Amino acid sequence: MNPATLKGRSLVNWKDWTPEEIRYLLELSHTAKKASHNRDVHQRFLGKTLAMIFEKRSTRTRCAFETAFGEEGGHPVFLSTQDIQLGAKESIEDTARVLGRMFSAIEFRGYNQDTVEILAAKSGIPVYNGLTDDYHPTQALADVMTLEEAFGKLEGRTMCFVGDGRNNVVRSLLIISAKLGLNLTVVSPKKLFPEQAILDEVAGWAVQSGAKIAVSEDLDAVKGADCVYTDVWVSMGEESYSEERRRLLFPYQVNAALMARTENPAVIFMHCLPAVKGQEVSIDVIESPSSRVWDQAENRKHTIKAIMLATL
Ligand code: CP
Ligand code: NVA
Repeated sequence: MNPATLKGRSLVNWKDWTPEEIRYLLELSHTAKKASHNRDVHQRFLGKTLAMIFEKRSTRTRCAFETAFGEEGGHPVFLSTQDIQLGAKESIEDTARVLGRMFSAIEFRGYNQDTVEILAAKSGIPVYNGLTDDYHPTQALADVMTLEEAFGKLEGRTMCFVGDGRNNVVRSLLIISAKLGLNLTVVSPKKLFPEQAILDEVAGWAVQSGAKIAVSEDLDAVKGADCVYTDVWVSMGEESYSEERRRLLFPYQVNAALMARTENPAVIFMHCLPAVKGQEVSIDVIESPSSRVWDQAENRKHTIKAIMLATL
């Protein structure tokens, strides 16, 4: 893989990235983390600018992009859609063309996947998906980095996602796991299974990488898991489903009993955060020594820096 081929690339989801390219980003992420812990100072984004568009709230993603870009000498500009013309007075295409004339790259967090894809198609600069209703690709890279730190290699390891099986985080985990050879079982009520279309889409990559991708409504499917992962029951923008989700997902709470069903004393717990403690995860599990959620949060910054280093 020639790293020069990544210059100018966008990340709207992982579908058009090869396993070799994703592995390269992972290596770069581990290197960036070591350099950061050594307090090495680089100015690799000096003279560059990043437009950061947010339709939805964020702590980790915003702070990861802003600090990763700023500490390398770049100038990040936070653009809340409360304040800019996008979606109100101006089309996405026109906003894309204007930002493309002024910035080096764009980060977008919001509702429609189409928006980030139009920005990528029309701006002429790299565009990074910081979460849409459909995908959360930068999260998935931090997640596999965290698994590598815990286990060394991803191949042969099994992650079980327990909860809302059709959300943005799960879709991105399905794609990255299938590409990198990580086994992933999604455990959720039938009504919240991942769509067949995404399962069909990842099946081919899984055959090539050797990843076993499975879906089950049975909590016993967590047996043997190396990692149990969960996310909120109600994603941003889905607040009207709160009642139904609580009813459907109550039996799927990740608590000590669920962790014990893995029958693996070395199992780790992961969550993209923010967490609703006492809902999708019990306080004792998220606060336990097996919880890797703070490493995961920190790794958002190193992986996002790696993505920008590779593409800018
Ligand atoms: N995990 C994550 O994306 O967190 P934020 O919503 O705080 O960015
Ligand atoms: N699925 C969650 C992830 C938050 C980081 C949401 O979309 O709200």
